[in-house]
Amino acid sequence: MSIRNTRERWGSLSQFFHWLIVALIAIQAALGLTGIMLPLGVQKLAVLARHKSIGITILGLAALRLLWRCLNPTPPLPSNLRPHERFLARFTHAALYVLLFAMPLTGWIMSSARGFPVSWFSLFQLPDLVPKSETLYDAMVRTHAALAIALAVTVALHIAGAIKHHFVLKDDTLRRMLPFGRPTLTVLVGVMLAPAAAHSAEPAYALLAAQSSLTYAFSQAGARNQGRFKSFAVSFDPRAGRLDVMIDMSSFDTGDQQRNGILGGKDFFDAAQYPQSRFTASRIEKTAAGYAATGSLTLRGVTRGITIPFTWRTATVQGRPVGYLSGQTTLRRLDFGVGQGQWQSTDWVGNDVTVRYALVLTPSESK
Ligand code: HEM
Ligand code: HEM
Repeated sequence: MSIRNTRERWGSLSQFFHWLIVALIAIQAALGLTGIMLPLGVQKLAVLARHKSIGITILGLAALRLLWRCLNPTPPLPSNLRPHERFLARFTHAALYVLLFAMPLTGWIMSSARGFPVSWFSLFQLPDLVPKSETLYDAMVRTHAALAIALAVTVALHIAGAIKHHFVLKDDTLRRMLPFGRPTLTVLVGVMLAPAAAHSAEPAYALLAAQSSLTYAFSQAGARNQGRFKSFAVSFDPRAGRLDVMIDMSSFDTGDQQRNGILGGKDFFDAAQYPQSRFTASRIEKTAAGYAATGSLTLRGVTRGITIPFTWRTATVQGRPVGYLSGQTTLRRLDFGVGQGQWQSTDWVGNDVTVRYALVLTPSESK
């Protein structure tokens, strides 16, 4: 992972700042609350001295973090957010930044107004920000406490957002702020959620091939041409948000021997060279009409990002759970090099190919 951010993920330095500050704030809250509860004595002074030193450290880190943010690209918010979600995310992040400065500054002003200079881990003393003032001290104690509550509320909202992104919207927002990859995260989340998942688990599904169909249609010389694939495998895991489709490219049937020969040949599918086509989606979102699976399609050796719409419903048939996944999408054949040489012309063979899927699935044994 690079030190700098990219448009896709936070770089290691941004992640380091984020998680170090998270850890320090947790310690800071514990020290602050312990500090105010202890009776006046050596222990209280020691706890508050540590609280002040860590608070100043957070102030320094927040400044460096903001500077680094200005020097780097930031990964944009996922495109599927609605305007109010976008606003909430931006507002929460801005509020967190404001609080990362306001908390330490009010603490520092509070100490200065009380006439207690602040030292950083007894290594050096910081200048007083304001002259001694009882009224200002009182105001700052109250402000610091109010800001601490505001911080707790904002962090709670922020964590709720991270959880929603990961489990409901199923996007990369949390992953791209985490230093480790998908396997570690999956294990971590799996361990955390195993007891809950055991009750609510929706199973993973595999294809009931005989009852399913995968067809395509395109226009040729103004007339509709269609065919189907006879051999394909599907696995669908609604809970993990994964859909995987593998198509045997030599298994298509146009209903005509000569046409089969042309479509399977070098200029079209080139099934000898590219025997399989694969669609893998790792993000599934709810839409007004059903769902949308976003992932990559590899066809004739070309991989492109696509989103396919589908509807999903489950039923119990003869005591067995069955899932129905259906929909259709339009692909442009030339995006994948289907149609070489003279066939690149779309005068007689249209570029748009409508792919229809009506899949019947059943819970897979391996889950
Ligand atoms: C991000 C940084 C900080 C956080 C999250 C934080 C949080 C807290 C919390 C939760 C409390 C206990 C509740 C309250 O009275 O507010 C507290 C108290 C206190 N904080 Fe901070 N603080 C931070 C930075 C600082 C700094 C930099 C200083 C001083 C240089 C400071 C000085 C104090 C003092 C003196 C108290 C005790 C107030 C009293 O006696 O009522 N804090 N802080
Ligand atoms: C004291 C606690 C926390 C603070 C102060 C904090 C602060 C922030 C800030 C200011 C950002 C915006 C980054 C930017 O735009 O430069 C951010 C992003 C983020 N935080 Fe936190 N955070 C805290 C805790 C957490 C926790 C506990 C989680 C995970 C459950 C989390 C997950 C994230 C994620 C995933 C992002 C990236 C959002 C995106 O990519 O758009 N944060 N955090």
